Amino acid sequence: MTIPELTDVHAAWLPPEAFRAIGSRRTLVRADGPLAETVRAEVTRARAGYGDGSEGPYDLVLGLDAAEGADGYAIARRDGVTTVTGGDPAGLLYGFFHVVRLGEAAFGADRETEHHRPAMRRRMLDHWDNIDVHPVMGQVERGYAGGSIFWDKGAPRADLTRVRAYARLLAASGVNAVAINNVNVHATEAHLLTDRLGEVAAIAAELRPYGIRVHLSVNFASPIALGGLPTADPLDEGVRAWWARTTEQVYATIPDFGGYVVKADSEGQPGPFAYGRTHADGANMLAEALAPFGGVVHWRAFVYNHRQDWRDRSTDRARAAYDHFAPLDGRFLDNAILQVKHGPMDFQTREPVSPVILEMRGTRLAVELQVTQEYTGQQRHVCYLAPMWSEILAFENVAEAGDLVAVSNAGDDRYWTGHPLAQANLYAFGRLAWDPGLDPAAVLDEWIDLTFAWPGESLRRTLHAMMDGSWRTYERYTAPLGVGFMVRPGHHYGPDVDGYEYTPWGTYHFADRDGVGVDRTRATGTGFTDQYPRPWSDVYESLERCPDELLLFFHHVPYGHVLHSGSTVIQHIYDTHFAGAEEAAETRLHWEKLADTGAVDPDLYARVKERLDEQVRCAEEWRDQINAYFFRKSGVPDARGRRIP
Ligand code: GCU
Repeated sequence: MTIPELTDVHAAWLPPEAFRAIGSRRTLVRADGPLAETVRAEVTRARAGYGDGSEGPYDLVLGLDAAEGADGYAIARRDGVTTVTGGDPAGLLYGFFHVVRLGEAAFGADRETEHHRPAMRRRMLDHWDNIDVHPVMGQVERGYAGGSIFWDKGAPRADLTRVRAYARLLAASGVNAVAINNVNVHATEAHLLTDRLGEVAAIAAELRPYGIRVHLSVNFASPIALGGLPTADPLDEGVRAWWARTTEQVYATIPDFGGYVVKADSEGQPGPFAYGRTHADGANMLAEALAPFGGVVHWRAFVYNHRQDWRDRSTDRARAAYDHFAPLDGRFLDNAILQVKHGPMDFQTREPVSPVILEMRGTRLAVELQVTQEYTGQQRHVCYLAPMWSEILAFENVAEAGDLVAVSNAGDDRYWTGHPLAQANLYAFGRLAWDPGLDPAAVLDEWIDLTFAWPGESLRRTLHAMMDGSWRTYERYTAPLGVGFMVRPGHHYGPDVDGYEYTPWGTYHFADRDGVGVDRTRATGTGFTDQYPRPWSDVYESLERCPDELLLFFHHVPYGHVLHSGSTVIQHIYDTHFAGAEEAAETRLHWEKLADTGAVDPDLYARVKERLDEQVRCAEEWRDQINAYFFRKSGVPDARGRRIP
């Protein structure tokens, strides 16, 4: 087992200095097997960097005790010795990284035994990577961090050191599963399941030493495209036999293969509807093929009509997932996991939690988040997403989902994530999947301590000032009060208020001279509020009780409607857009104070500065377009007389 060494890639949250506390002490690993070897190799490397070669009693002892459970561990310190007890080898690895996170604090005063177990069984990142460069979507769909770490222009990367380094970062955050290819499985990528399986195996080999299983997105029509069968009907015996055989072959090649991810009947992808079958039929067919090997299928609930007529006011995209899947509750096999986007639309800056998650109690669920910032500034804007995720995870039964999945924001960029501060989102995803109750600011502190090796208070304060509230800042200068979209169609960056208003995509705001918002009430609208259990169906239905930040998601209101905050909708739009753009400028000022202080590396400083310049420009563009649009529609002037172009 070799620890990956990369010279020209940023070390993210595992710089050598993060291992100083361990490396300058003596550690004993009392366990065997591949993951224990990984821990041993980590210790040896830390020792080589910081040890003085001295002999003496052990300061850190790592061992196993099944009582701590799968992936779990206990940590304690007594009589000058820190002990980590893994419930299994993976738990040992997570316990080791816990010590790394603590740094010197792991070797200070005595510590009572603490037990740690992950809330989510699968803590999974989905890569939307393509093998071929897609003519519209590129190498990585919705990727804002360069190319893929797996493939380069049609071919697998010869050197996968970067993949091993990625696995190491992910393990340190708690992630244990990665789906390596885009959910939109195009012709070339479909072959990963069969004749290009070797590429999957090679990637799996790099992820395995860090306890990460590989999953694969597959095309529902594979029996036709790859197997030469006349149909992909999930109830056809030949089709079922083909999936069983193919899956057996996958496990013969990759014995710890995690399973399949499927986007079916969605945005042009094939699915069971073509054969008059249900999505339970489709998912269960794959679940049966995977079951003998302990694999799972993640079946996505992102199914809606993307060819809607905008004139048709009865169709509501927000309703689609529930309408399709709720009737199937209880009909999915145990290893068929329904993967549901956290909101009913599509990863907007603010959405209510999807009613599918609240209502489908008889189905195993994975909640899907988007770490890649498609709708939250595309890694050009600072937008720390942990506060959003933590709100979502605190809502009703969301944290009881077995799996938490997110679309990765990593690529072959020198900083992994394009915007160096977007690394914090990748880190925070893993930590919140492990413990949804963690405080986002505390997670940010962990990331700061590791990445900048326990820096002084001033850098810490600066980063908190820039990042803690950055999601809300982003929300202020973009689409207001939960209405969503208003982005440039296609690439989804920057404002275009009516960009989607007369398109087939089902993403409308219905602004006119009198008011704005989508009436999703049962009284007068699309009836979407009915999909929620009580009290939420009543809360969202009621103009009085609906939270301000979701008002326009559920209601169409006049511009003069008074919010709980006391402000009118139109004045709220003006105020938040002026404030949001100002906050973006303040964020840049915070960073600029670091110039020439030596607090951060000059190259990293410059990268963040360049992104902040773009954020400030773009926030002003958002402010001016949104304010001008609503001023022109409503004719209501800003009560504070500010300039609206
Ligand atoms: C969004 C995104 C697509 C993606 C889709 C999905 O619509 O823009 O690029 O394919 O979500 O989650 O499947």
